[in-house]
Amino acid sequence: MNILVLGSGGREHALANALKSKNNHVYIYPGNAGIFTDSDIMKTSIEKMNESEVLEFVKSENIELVVIGPENLLADGYADFLRSHGVRVFGPSKEAARLESSKIFSKELMKKWNIPTADFHIAETYEEAVEFINSDTFSLDEGIVLKADGLAAGKGVVVTFSKDEALSTAYDFMKNENISVKTNRLLIEKCLKGKELSAFALCDGQNFFYLGTACDYKRLKDGDEGPNTGGMGCYTPRQWPGQDVENKIKSQVIDPILKALTELGHPFIGTLFCGLMIKNDEVNVIEFNVRFGDPETQTILPLIDGDLSEILYLAATGSLKSLKSEFKLKDLFSVHLVKSSEGYPSIDGTKMNLENTILGSIEPDEFNKLFYAGVKEKDNKLVNSGGRVFGITALAKTLEEARESAYQNLGKVTFEGEHYRTDIAKV
Ligand code: AMP
Ligand code: GLY
Repeated sequence: MNILVLGSGGREHALANALKSKNNHVYIYPGNAGIFTDSDIMKTSIEKMNESEVLEFVKSENIELVVIGPENLLADGYADFLRSHGVRVFGPSKEAARLESSKIFSKELMKKWNIPTADFHIAETYEEAVEFINSDTFSLDEGIVLKADGLAAGKGVVVTFSKDEALSTAYDFMKNENISVKTNRLLIEKCLKGKELSAFALCDGQNFFYLGTACDYKRLKDGDEGPNTGGMGCYTPRQWPGQDVENKIKSQVIDPILKALTELGHPFIGTLFCGLMIKNDEVNVIEFNVRFGDPETQTILPLIDGDLSEILYLAATGSLKSLKSEFKLKDLFSVHLVKSSEGYPSIDGTKMNLENTILGSIEPDEFNKLFYAGVKEKDNKLVNSGGRVFGITALAKTLEEARESAYQNLGKVTFEGEHYRTDIAKV
């Protein structure tokens, strides 16, 4: 099969790596210079990310499946455009992608379908937000969460226990011209307690294949200190939260949300990423994303025992029920570690210490992987060009072994100013 992956990060590297095989030709656009050190992953002739260029390439190279990585392309309607030209796409329509691109749409749908989630209030104006916060309807002692409605690159959520901070955040999100986050409607939620978990399902509109769970470390520094990042590491917990809770995730969350979107006339084709809070074996949804997670993808996909291209193709064509091949996850633990550039996650990228040569590499095999993200080529060498630079995944029979071998490999690839956490998967 000829496959095109859209996107440029570690997630897309992991996707291309899992899709390549002797039967598949895998192209990636835009990709990055690190990904293209793998001679099995091919560059395209696309020069600019726009729908018509992508379509032209798909037609000229007989691409049979397009896999869309990032949420912004989904929210921009790339899946709709390509499907309207007869292309098979793994990724939801613009309307189905509202599950991620509008937090208010998502919460209202959860409420309608009784999907467990934190109590919430929608403030339609800044004045109403101030009034609601001041009313103490949601106790600040228990914590409240303020969310901008649209995509905000991880900057649109603030959890707070202070009324002053709640009020100033409402101002920043709704009124402050100097802040990149803007929203007309503010979502105010009660704070959920418990342990966070992400669950993933590959969906064909009606049916899904449950891919399992992962725990992501969002904070920059050890001990969950420092600013929020895209994710500094991740592992598959396996024994936790257990079969009963995973059954609840399927029956109380994934099943009803797929039905809800079908009823709306926007069946969900793609990866459903459920951000969950687990407490006393009860499941609550924090949010839905409509794509593979980064770095959860780099953690989970190396565990796949089977042909990922087959299952994504069946999902894209609404025929997951006819999945014949034995497709499962290996009976192993997976740990993924990220190295980031000095200065990450600065809002102004120029403050990062970039363009340092990346030295060393690992011998990738079935159990050990290196996935490149913020990397480019300079003077025939790979240099860091973004926040998260690369990640290492290791699989092993125990979490401790996976962790140890991931850290060993992480030490083999270095660059000036590198940063990484030392406590990933230390549970
Ligand atoms: P989101 O962008 O919705 O994933 O929110 C980012 C992070 O904020 C989540 O990963 C949680 O750690 C936290 N968060 C969001 N909503 C809640 C909530 N209702 N209760 C507790 N934490 C939350
Ligand atoms: N790792 C979190 C995300 O992909 O949104």
